[in-house]
Amino acid sequence: MNRAAPIGLFDSGIGGLTVARELIWRLPAEALLYVADTAHVPYGGRSVDELCHLASSITRWLEAEGCKLVVVACNTCSAVALEACREVVDVPVVGVIEGGARAAGAAWRGGTVGVIATAATVASGAYPHALQALQPGLPVAQVACPRFVPLVEAGRLSTPDAVSAVCDYLAELPLAQLDALLLGCTHYPFLAPLLRMRTEERTQLIDPAFETARTVAAWLHDTGAAAAGPGAHRWCATGSADSLRLVNQLCFGGRLAAPEEIGALAVPAPA
Ligand code: DGL
Repeated sequence: MNRAAPIGLFDSGIGGLTVARELIWRLPAEALLYVADTAHVPYGGRSVDELCHLASSITRWLEAEGCKLVVVACNTCSAVALEACREVVDVPVVGVIEGGARAAGAAWRGGTVGVIATAATVASGAYPHALQALQPGLPVAQVACPRFVPLVEAGRLSTPDAVSAVCDYLAELPLAQLDALLLGCTHYPFLAPLLRMRTEERTQLIDPAFETARTVAAWLHDTGAAAAGPGAHRWCATGSADSLRLVNQLCFGGRLAAPEEIGALAVPAPA
């Protein structure tokens, strides 16, 4: 095991940077290799077959680039394509659903857990299934939010259309009963300030990134694979890297290294 090898991560776009951010804070010695599949964003309306094909192609590429571990920094792929990714590589592959469910389950006080996610994640039932495995009968209310990802990719984080999308989607949830609102798409933490304004004070916003970073830290510790650091990161896009440049300015103070455009790694499978 090469301890200095990078941790690979991927998402359809910039959403997985919310997981990368958590890994950088928690594990500053680690190098990250990030792929934003901007050639195929958004993922949320794609079929399970397409998602398995896209996700497993990127996972294979990350292993070929020498990654010691792959984090599926995308709820949609974690929900429907985690096994497909694990089948094509020898390195461990970690998803975000389990950690998100664990954090939301810990915040549950006998009310309802709200889940906002992509259409594919909602349809998969992955979060209700994981939550009810932790706590049988736990009430879950889900809503798909397809307008969010294009807004976040464009950096429109507090524009009138972002405000109205947040109001419209949250109106579909029983807000007064929510103990926790699980941000079941890695793009959504970028909208947290707006989501916070529309939820009750007692409702905890749950970002699965925190628990996912804990899982990665535990794996590094248990396997003796932790890097001695300092970690240098690579930011790659399969299509345009404009959204990576934008989020670097908006949310990372321009501190991320310049992104690379690596070309599409997979042709989408027929829907
Ligand atoms: N950020 C991803 C997720 O967590 C994908 C969103 C999309 O591309 O629709 O589900």
